[in-house]
Amino acid sequence: MPLPFLASLYFDGLPPWFPDPIRLLKVSTALTTIAATKWYTSGRSNGSERDMHGRVVLMTGGTSGIGAATAADLAQRGAQLVLLTRQPPTDPFLVEYIDDLRARTANQMIYAEQVDLADLYSVRQFATRWIDNAPPRRLDMIVLCAATMVPPGGRRVETAEGVEMTWMVNFLANFHLLGILSPAIRAQPFDRDVRIVVPTCSSYISAPKLDGGEEQQQQLVGKKKGGKDGQDWTPGKAYARSKLALMTFAKAYQKHLDAYIRPDELPMNAKVVIVDPGLARSPGTRRWLTRGSLWGLLLYLVFYPFAWLFLKSCEMAAQSLLFATMESSLVRPPGARLIKECMEVDCARKDVEDEEVAKKLWESSDKLIEWIEKEQAVKRARAKKEQEKKDEEAKKEQEKKDEAAKNAAQVEEIESLLGAIKTGKAKEAQKKNGKKGKAGGNIWGRPTHSPLRNSSHCHPVFFTNKLRRPPLHVLSGSQSSPVAHGYVYQDAPRGGEKSAGPRL
Ligand SMILES: NC(=O)c1ccc[n+]([C@@H]2O[C@H](COP(=O)([O-])OP(=O)(O)OC[C@H]3O[C@@H](n4cnc5c(N)ncnc54)[C@H](OP(=O)(O)O)[C@@H]3O)[C@@H](O)[C@H]2O)c1
Repeated sequence: MPLPFLASLYFDGLPPWFPDPIRLLKVSTALTTIAATKWYTSGRSNGSERDMHGRVVLMTGGTSGIGAATAADLAQRGAQLVLLTRQPPTDPFLVEYIDDLRARTANQMIYAEQVDLADLYSVRQFATRWIDNAPPRRLDMIVLCAATMVPPGGRRVETAEGVEMTWMVNFLANFHLLGILSPAIRAQPFDRDVRIVVPTCSSYISAPKLDGGEEQQQQLVGKKKGGKDGQDWTPGKAYARSKLALMTFAKAYQKHLDAYIRPDELPMNAKVVIVDPGLARSPGTRRWLTRGSLWGLLLYLVFYPFAWLFLKSCEMAAQSLLFATMESSLVRPPGARLIKECMEVDCARKDVEDEEVAKKLWESSDKLIEWIEKEQAVKRARAKKEQEKKDEEAKKEQEKKDEAAKNAAQVEEIESLLGAIKTGKAKEAQKKNGKKGKAGGNIWGRPTHSPLRNSSHCHPVFFTNKLRRPPLHVLSGSQSSPVAHGYVYQDAPRGGEKSAGPRL
């Protein structure tokens, strides 16, 4: 079969149904280029392995994008995940997310703790709760994936505490969290491989020079707090600056850990790893590309093939993070290495390592946090006092209302009692005037149309609403005896021959 076909190709040329070879060459070249581009932009996969069973991992940003992909992989390997989330653990979407993650990874050890990184008090509350334990809790890893970014053209946003949002979430909250958790990290046994994974972004290369001093921090707090910011603020600059500051701090934090002398005098093994995951099609990137608008989203969908070709999937972007959590060679000094595409690379900026800048940044951040926390503590105390005052007033108001209602009920009761007495007297007067028969009563002195169960007709004089007996049911036979029911009978009118009622 192949031989005749090859012979016909040789003697007669290409069959008519065979596509034009030039076109074929073009198409195959295009497909190869696309495949090669996709292969290149997808980045490298993590080849490192580490037993994650029983390892306790604290993680921010584990609910979305690259963080979610990292969380899923770590959970699949058996790690015990504590997701630090903006929402409370009772949030229905979060509950569903965690249930789904547990089911997908067959790992029940996934929990959530509320930590709003836009709120220093929330960070402090969680971190102090974590370290307030004896013996110290096990802690194997901290993965700081949470980040925020204002889309281009967006307006500067401030947190409730008055700090510029990007600076707060991307840098200051991480600084605060690691600062408070430092004793918990240092208290881990010598042979525990503790890692702090800090994602960054290559935009740090274009960030304006970091001074780190108080003056620069001043620019990042709100204008209402006396900050001078606003002149050179753009979303891109704010993001890049926050990432540069985070990297500078990460380097300094490694030195801070290395400088610690353990009580057992063994070396400190905790390592900081900085990771650049590369550009990914995460919700954060999507928000940035679409500018958070519907038109932007439409354009994004139209040009999605380009996004697919040039941007990584979140799972591929997570590979460098997974490498940072698992690669065994990262235990060896020095710490605070930068990982990109699952390998160590050099920082593109020398000032990341500048100790003078790092020191200034550390000190000014400490001061800023202290200042804000003091101010917020005073506000909270004032709000608490006001709330207590309001509660007290509300309580008094309620007591007054209850008292008034009680008095009104008493007045009503007395009035009804008086009314009943008046009605009784009127009836007695009627009886005396001999009008009883005309009133349509029977020999028992009750109106004939009134059923027995309506006791108000039977005892109008003596029973108020509260004192009245339960309704009397007319039963047949001996049970229907009025005597048995404690009924008070009146004498039948005497003298009349026709009267034939019982006489008791
Ligand atoms: N995507 C990229 O192309 C790219 C490139 C380079 C570096 N990176 C870095 O990789 C990391 C992950 O990026 P991503 O694009 O996957 O992020 P993302 O999809 O935007 O997700 C951000 C995460 O941060 C959390 N977060 C935001 N504000 C928070 C707050 N105030 N308190 C607590 N959590 C908060 C979000 O929680 P909610 O779910 O509650 O919103 C979410 O889980 C970031 O550090 C980013 O800088 C990303």
